[in-house]
Amino acid sequence: MQLSENVYLPKTAILDRVTDEIADVKTFYWHFEDESEQKAFKKFKPGQFAQVSIFGAGEFPASLPPSPTEDETFFTIRTVGSCTAALHRLKPGDRFGVRGPYGNGFPMEDYYGKNLVFVAGGIGLIPLRSCIVYALKHRDKYERIQVFYGSKSPRELMYMTNLRDWETASGIECRLTVDRKGPDDVWDGNIGVVGSLFKLPGANIPVDNTIAFVCGPPIMFRFVIKDLLSLGFQERNIVSTLERYMKCGVGKCGHCCIGVAYVCTEGPVFTYEQIKQLGEDI
Ligand SMILES: Cc1cc2nc3c(=O)[nH]c(=O)nc-3n(C[C@H](O)[C@H](O)[C@H](O)COP(=O)(O)OP(=O)(O)OC[C@H]3O[C@@H](n4cnc5c(N)ncnc54)[C@H](O)[C@@H]3O)c2cc1C
Ligand code: FES
Repeated sequence: MQLSENVYLPKTAILDRVTDEIADVKTFYWHFEDESEQKAFKKFKPGQFAQVSIFGAGEFPASLPPSPTEDETFFTIRTVGSCTAALHRLKPGDRFGVRGPYGNGFPMEDYYGKNLVFVAGGIGLIPLRSCIVYALKHRDKYERIQVFYGSKSPRELMYMTNLRDWETASGIECRLTVDRKGPDDVWDGNIGVVGSLFKLPGANIPVDNTIAFVCGPPIMFRFVIKDLLSLGFQERNIVSTLERYMKCGVGKCGHCCIGVAYVCTEGPVFTYEQIKQLGEDI
């Protein structure tokens, strides 16, 4: 009798190093103990996610911010509760578990020949980072690429080194904004919600032949969708990821269901047209 593989069994990962992003958010660089697992995992698509288990604490879903075209594997995680706090306590050399990649991911090859507009708020840049780096690696396959990114304050802007590199090295237009600036903040950029960047001189978002990626907190999502629709975007050309409570990640437990859709297997990437059809109130 052939025993089938246990889909819930995580593979052992080793933490290499940890870097600070913003308050309560760190990036964890890691690799699988077994080299063949590393090779297999590196076939993931931008927008997919993995289940991360911290032994003795539990398991949680996490996006994959690296592009499959990058050498290193890492997660960027905000500490909110017991599992994420347990990950934040790990030290280089410590072991934890990873299973995946799961979900559909963004169909980046379907977007060849198109303009790409990335709109992110706060830690919504985590899943989009993978797509942006992927698009850079295949720069000649896409037309204009724009990134619009906003956070509450200058201290809450993530991946700042990446954002500067993308803009200077690669012909990507990056526009940043913050909701407010504190007395000690060094910031001479735009102040306002992320949608206010759309009106800046030169932004000139192309609507025809363009895919808009939107990830961020629900309030930002609602306003940005409104702005994009009023610019003339069709609902099927706006894509996002849905974050839902997940347990198994593989379409078995039903925790992530919205109506008849399993977010873990049919998503987490959906067009706005699909999100509306699901009846999802973001
Ligand atoms: C597909 C997917 C990708 C994700 N990617 C990332 C990522 O890249 N980086 C990151 O920091 N976080 C990400 N998250 C969120 C992350 O999974 C949760 O923060 C984590 O599960 C919290 O676990 P915990 O045990 O630390 O907190 P818990 O003790 O489980 O919860 C603490 C608090 O967070 C809330 N919470 C927990 N999970 C969620 C959730 N899924 N959605 C909304 N609220 C939640 C709880 O209601 C509670 O208030 C992702 C979630 C999903 C579904
Ligand atoms: S998380 Fe179990 S079915 Fe989706």
